[in-house]
Amino acid sequence: MKELRDRVAVITGAAGGIGMASARALSRRGAHVVAVDHAATPELAADLSSHGARAVAHVADVSRPDVFEAVRDRALDEFGRVDIVMNNVGVLTNGLPEDIPAAEWQRILDINLMSVVRSNEVFVPLLLSQGEGHIVNTSSVAGLFTYSYDRTPYAATKAAIVHLTEALAIYLRPKNIGVTLLCPGPVLTNIANDIPSFGPGAPLRLPFDEFELLDPADVGEMVAEAILANRFFLPTHPAVLDLLRRRVEDWDGFIEYQISRKPKT
Ligand SMILES: NC(=O)c1ccc[n+]([C@@H]2O[C@H](COP(=O)([O-])OP(=O)(O)OC[C@H]3O[C@@H](n4cnc5c(N)ncnc54)[C@H](O)[C@@H]3O)[C@@H](O)[C@H]2O)c1
Repeated sequence: MKELRDRVAVITGAAGGIGMASARALSRRGAHVVAVDHAATPELAADLSSHGARAVAHVADVSRPDVFEAVRDRALDEFGRVDIVMNNVGVLTNGLPEDIPAAEWQRILDINLMSVVRSNEVFVPLLLSQGEGHIVNTSSVAGLFTYSYDRTPYAATKAAIVHLTEALAIYLRPKNIGVTLLCPGPVLTNIANDIPSFGPGAPLRLPFDEFELLDPADVGEMVAEAILANRFFLPTHPAVLDLLRRRVEDWDGFIEYQISRKPKT
C-alpha cells in the first residue's frame, strides 16, 4: 500500500497499548480508524481523529461469534470500505502446564486465536472483492520461541497466529493483499496487569535481557511503515533473530540453555 491517506483501518484492542499506538500512527498518516475494543472509552474516537482523518470507537468483545460482521457493517456504514485489518487483541493467563484448566485454555483460544479466524472469515472476502488491502496480525516473540512454561495457552495461540499469518501471506500477496506478522518483544502496556493465575503460581519468566522495553508509540510507527513497505515479518526486537538461529541449529541445546536461565522476579 503506497499511501495511507483516506484508507480505512479496523484495529482490535485499540483502546490501549500497541493497538492504540498503531491507530494513532495510521491516523497521523491520514487513515480513518474503526477502533474495536471491549473497553468503552468515550474519548477514544476524538483522541484518534487527527490530520483530517476520522475515527469511530466500536465497543465489542472479539471472542463473541458474529462480532466481525457487526464491525464490518459499522465500518462500511461510516466509511464505505475497509483497507486495513489489524487483529491485535491478546491476553495472558498464568500457571504451570498442569494447573491451567481446559476452560481457561478455551477462553484464551477464543480471544487470541479464534478472533483472528473469525475476522478472516469476514474481512478476507471483503478485501478480495476490493482487490487490495492489508492484514496485520499481532503475534509475539512468544509465538516464535518458548521462553517460559508459565503461559502455555498464550504461547500456543501466538504460535498458531504465526502459521496462520504465513499461510495468509502466501495466499493473499499474489492477490494484491499485503500481510504483516507483528512479533513484539516486551512493550510497556497494560498487558501484564491483573493476569488470572492458576495453581500455586509459576515464577514469571520473561524474554531475555537483550530485549529492551519499548514504548508502544515506537511499535505503532513500525506497524504503519510495515504496511507502507508491504513487509511480512515485523519483529520489534531484532535480537530475536539470533535466538531463532541458535534454536534451529541446536534445539536440544537451546532447551538446556532455557532451563539454565533463572526466572526473573
Ligand atoms: N506488551 C507486550 O509486551 C507484548 C509483547 C508481545 C506481544 N504483545 C501482543 O500485542 C497485542 C496488544 O497487547 P498490548 O500489550 O497492547 O496489551 P494491552 O492490554 O495494553 O491492550 C490490549 C487491548 O485489548 C483489549 N481487549 C482485551 N480483550 C479483549 C476482547 N475480548 N475484546 C476486545 N478487546 C479486548 C483491552 O481492553 C486493551 O485495550 C496482544 O496481542 C499481545 O499479545 C504484547
